[in-house]
Amino acid sequence: MKSSKTINLAILGLGKIAHEFAKDVSLVEGVALVAVASRNLEKAKQFATEYDVANYYDSYKELATSPEVNLIYIATPNNFHFEHATLCIESGKAVICEKPFALNSTQVFKMIAKAKERQVFLMEAMWTRFIPATQRVIDIIADGTIGQITGINADFGFAAATDLNSRLYNKELGGGSLLDIGIYPIYLSYLLLGMPNHINATATLSSTGVDSNCEVLFKYANAECKLEALLLKQHQQKPLL
Ligand SMILES: NC(=O)c1ccc[n+]([C@@H]2O[C@H](COP(=O)([O-])OP(=O)(O)OC[C@H]3O[C@@H](n4cnc5c(N)ncnc54)[C@H](OP(=O)(O)O)[C@@H]3O)[C@@H](O)[C@H]2O)c1
Repeated sequence: MKSSKTINLAILGLGKIAHEFAKDVSLVEGVALVAVASRNLEKAKQFATEYDVANYYDSYKELATSPEVNLIYIATPNNFHFEHATLCIESGKAVICEKPFALNSTQVFKMIAKAKERQVFLMEAMWTRFIPATQRVIDIIADGTIGQITGINADFGFAAATDLNSRLYNKELGGGSLLDIGIYPIYLSYLLLGMPNHINATATLSSTGVDSNCEVLFKYANAECKLEALLLKQHQQKPLL
């Protein structure tokens, strides 16, 4: 049954993924992009003009308290997710926060507690949970087609920017392969097998001090998962399998 209610959505932080999100939102029924916020007014105005958004702000706080908004999508760098999600939740707004949810579990549990206290919706923008391939895997396992899972090999890598000043290699902004893409194979393992009994992880550090790749071994009573994340430099590209 279709709902006639429209969700009034806003975007906080207008970087690369915010543009992708704004384009895709226009394809979704029942959702209207009504406001955006940047640290810079001109940037906010330009974004609002490009995507036909009625309201724009040069203050994240002003967006968080704006009356026209029900739901705020947070698209700032990883280190700000906790602060910005908390700001919006405290203002009573529902939140979809970019992955990784936060920098560590302490921050995540505080965000969840705050959302429960204010009774607002809070979700990590984990797109891999919603793609048909993931649902197919869940169905195949649920109907017993492949029997009990005894192992998962999962990796995620891409030719990242070679610029060591980019967000991906910036420790202050929560860069590194684990937080950027390692979360995807790890999430797959959690989704299909739950919490492991034992975790063993190794990483190679870049000169900026973040992990340019990491390998994680999850051990369960009856299964083992080899999970890997790689920020490949252009010249290091190689097949992942
Ligand atoms: N789901 C996915 O597939 C996917 C893909 C890519 C990225 N992401 C996630 O989305 C988030 C943003 O990634 P992105 O690639 O869009 O990053 P980005 O291009 O660097 O944009 C981040 C935006 O955050 C705001 N910001 C606030 N304080 C900042 C600071 N001190 N330094 C830099 N930016 C600051 C800026 O917006 P204003 O200048 O407008 O304030 C900036 O444009 C990250 O958490 C990332 O993990 C998800």
